[in-house]
Amino acid sequence: MGFFNRIFSKKEEIIDPIDISFLKNDIHSHLIPGIDDGSPDMETTIILLKKFIDLGYKKVITTPHVMSDYYKNNPEIILSGLNNVRKEIKKQNLNIEIEAAAEYNLEPEFEKLLDDGKLLSFGAEKYLLFELSFFDEPLRLNETIWKMIEKGFRPVLAHVERYGYWHNNYDKIEEMINRGVKLQLNIGSVTGAYGPEVKKFAERLIKDEIIDFVGSDCHHLHHLEMINHAIRLPIFHSLVKQSQILNKSL
Ligand SMILES: [Fe+2]
Repeated sequence: MGFFNRIFSKKEEIIDPIDISFLKNDIHSHLIPGIDDGSPDMETTIILLKKFIDLGYKKVITTPHVMSDYYKNNPEIILSGLNNVRKEIKKQNLNIEIEAAAEYNLEPEFEKLLDDGKLLSFGAEKYLLFELSFFDEPLRLNETIWKMIEKGFRPVLAHVERYGYWHNNYDKIEEMINRGVKLQLNIGSVTGAYGPEVKKFAERLIKDEIIDFVGSDCHHLHHLEMINHAIRLPIFHSLVKQSQILNKSL
């Protein structure tokens, strides 16, 4: 076997699965039927919730996209969808709680929502999940972060490891922390599901113990199957045991 073949066929270390009840709660998913690119219908939502239960979760805080071009969701739409999911959970007697917040795209319309105060946050600390463009750092990033804090929210940056334009600019991550932003990491990133660069960056963030929240970002069953893989990886074990992780505090 040649040198490169040996490198690329190098086996990943797999260990006994860790119990996900270390985390207890998931804080990032797309489970309200038919309102974003997540679950398309109630049947799928129930299948996903059963999988969350099998994995050991006690509560999911689901976070539909709010994005002016594609997903014009608002608290009324999200909470009415939540109500329907809760009715179905009760009907089927499932042992899991569900709450709803949102995943806000950082764009000018988001600033207007902040001005109007029509936002869904989670937890007593009023954590507000927001995401950035995957292509370029958005204009007015710092101003919008400042506005979230001024309005009494604790900003939480969704899947911090997935913004390629920061992979060679670690200072940006430190700047986010200094500006009061909490960092959320997608579980799938440690499995390589979003590519090797994202995996490598996720590992660095984990080793530096600067991740505050861990999320499934579950849109479909595949994302929960990734968790089955992640719970067998040493890097994921070290992540969920870190004392600064806030999932279990909700
Ligand atoms: Fe998401």
